[in-house]
Amino acid sequence: MSDLARRTAQWQPDLRAALRGLYGDRAAQVEASVLAAVTSADRTRTPALTARDLARELEPDWFQQPGRVGYIAYAHHFGGTLKGVGERVPYLQELGVDMVHLMSVLRPRAGEDDGGYAIDDYRDVDPSLGTLDDLRALIRRLHGAGGSLVLDLVMNHTSDSHPWAQAARAGDPDALSLYLTYPDRTLPDAYERTLPEVFPDLAPGDFTHVAELGRWVWTTFNRFQWDLDWSNPRVLVEMSRIVLFLADLGVDVLRLDAVAFTGKQLGTNCQNQPAAHLVAQALRAVLGMGAPATIVLAEAIVAPDDLVPYLGRHERERRECDLAYHNQLMVLGWSMLAEGRTTLARTALERMPAPPARTGWLTHVRCHDDIGWAISDSDAASTGGHGQGHRDFLSAFYRGDFPLSFAEGEPFGVNLETGDERTCGGTAALCGISQALRSGDDGALDMGIRRLLAFYGIAFGWGGVPMLYMGDEVAHADDFTYRHDPERVHDSRWRQRPLLDDDAVARRHDPGSVEGRVWHGIRLLVAARTSCPALHAGGSVRPLWVGDEAVLGWLREHPRHGRLLGLANVTAQPRTLPAAVLPDLTTQSARAVVDLLEPPATTSWPGRTVRLSPYQVRWLTAEAELSTSPAASPS
Ligand code: GLC
Repeated sequence: MSDLARRTAQWQPDLRAALRGLYGDRAAQVEASVLAAVTSADRTRTPALTARDLARELEPDWFQQPGRVGYIAYAHHFGGTLKGVGERVPYLQELGVDMVHLMSVLRPRAGEDDGGYAIDDYRDVDPSLGTLDDLRALIRRLHGAGGSLVLDLVMNHTSDSHPWAQAARAGDPDALSLYLTYPDRTLPDAYERTLPEVFPDLAPGDFTHVAELGRWVWTTFNRFQWDLDWSNPRVLVEMSRIVLFLADLGVDVLRLDAVAFTGKQLGTNCQNQPAAHLVAQALRAVLGMGAPATIVLAEAIVAPDDLVPYLGRHERERRECDLAYHNQLMVLGWSMLAEGRTTLARTALERMPAPPARTGWLTHVRCHDDIGWAISDSDAASTGGHGQGHRDFLSAFYRGDFPLSFAEGEPFGVNLETGDERTCGGTAALCGISQALRSGDDGALDMGIRRLLAFYGIAFGWGGVPMLYMGDEVAHADDFTYRHDPERVHDSRWRQRPLLDDDAVARRHDPGSVEGRVWHGIRLLVAARTSCPALHAGGSVRPLWVGDEAVLGWLREHPRHGRLLGLANVTAQPRTLPAAVLPDLTTQSARAVVDLLEPPATTSWPGRTVRLSPYQVRWLTAEAELSTSPAASPS
């Protein structure tokens, strides 16, 4: 039996079930088309990728290993071109990063393109970055260095100038049927009764009237991003071909952009609908058959209860995405830093169902998008708070309009009807570094740096794949030039999408500089992670009450790889915890407990107290459970 036949047999039930759920009676026909696409892609798969497929089938937890560390960057802003990105590979290696998410690589529409999320051609590279061959060369270089590449699959919409959209405008009914369009406002009005606004101020409404079509087109995001009709099986077949094409370039992780929006259902908010999950399951099965070296990451920035199903777990276990952003941890991290209290975070994180052991979280602090304050009303209420009140507090705090706020963010997506306000601003601006640098206050600067490292200390120690946002390793400043660019001025997300400042990067080895301090701290986290088997993403994690609401405690446990106790002081005051409230990490064979972030000191255990300086994070583990000696001093 060939490898393809074996994998097809293995994944066919998953594919079939998803297609049946999506297309009913038409499922068998769709399945035949998808399988034909898989077979034809298999014929052109390179020997190197075939070997990678086999290796990853043998080691399916490759992405769960504690050594995985991610980095997200705009290709243009990080390297200028794909060749330029290649030249930065040694920089990434020095940092200890091995999973790179490059944004805005595929050919976008001309003019406004929502930061590369309005695609004209999924099979071509943005010409200003280089060619498809340059992308292949970059992937080979990354693979050669032991790394992997994450690329976006913008699947909810194409640009309005994609050839399908052009054909639709020219009157091709088949092309028109790939999109969701309506002759009048009857259905758009009916849908809009329950649809939330994604970009309330940028692009109000969810439908755009297109004169050439004489129809209303569903445009969840911007008017130039036309939503695809995933209830049309041709969309799934075409996207399966695109997925296989990208996998055959050697892309290791496909980020399913805005996957939550792919299922539309009248009378709902049209997010996280059963169809959206079935679509993700079908694409997962396509990769399982045709390119098992490639996995999928869910970009589902949704409420906590809606999030875990993207990793599987439905009425019965179904395989879906391998990774998903831990949006909750990110939002709660900012909430803890603003409040100096961990009660809400502990409660909300405790409530989240555990994802299946073969999947993992992608843990992050910032990304290229805004932060939506996804604090649920019930989580807030169960800690005696008020959901909207807390969300208002966070948007005011991070816009800098709150007494003692250290942040310098700005509003995004202000919805006058609901009162919701999201926040933009880079990590350094939100942590207080930018404000302190401007005021020249050294004490405040010290706290800002500690805050940034504390947050990354939580994200890197929680378990899963931690993802650094480009520039955070040197506390990069925001870029306000977008305010003078007519195409960007309305979208404040551009401020946290700067060009990597080579001067700041050059200061990373100067221990007296801000860049040097942050770089050193991040390097320490990377090195400590790699030495800590308990951070394998397959383990479990739960928040712990540690006797002080200024400290977040969490315990990671892996049946084979041991335990890690994380402690993060989220305040500017030193804290002392009674050791009696902490779990005893020692075992028969390992009596010493070490703090991986303070190598090579050994914490005497069981001491009576554990001290934490302002914003200090500790990762405590029993010594014999380390795979190697505690992290070597980072460069
Ligand atoms: C995702 C991207 C975001 C984009 C949106 C629409 O959320 O991260 O930048 O605006 O999808 O594609």
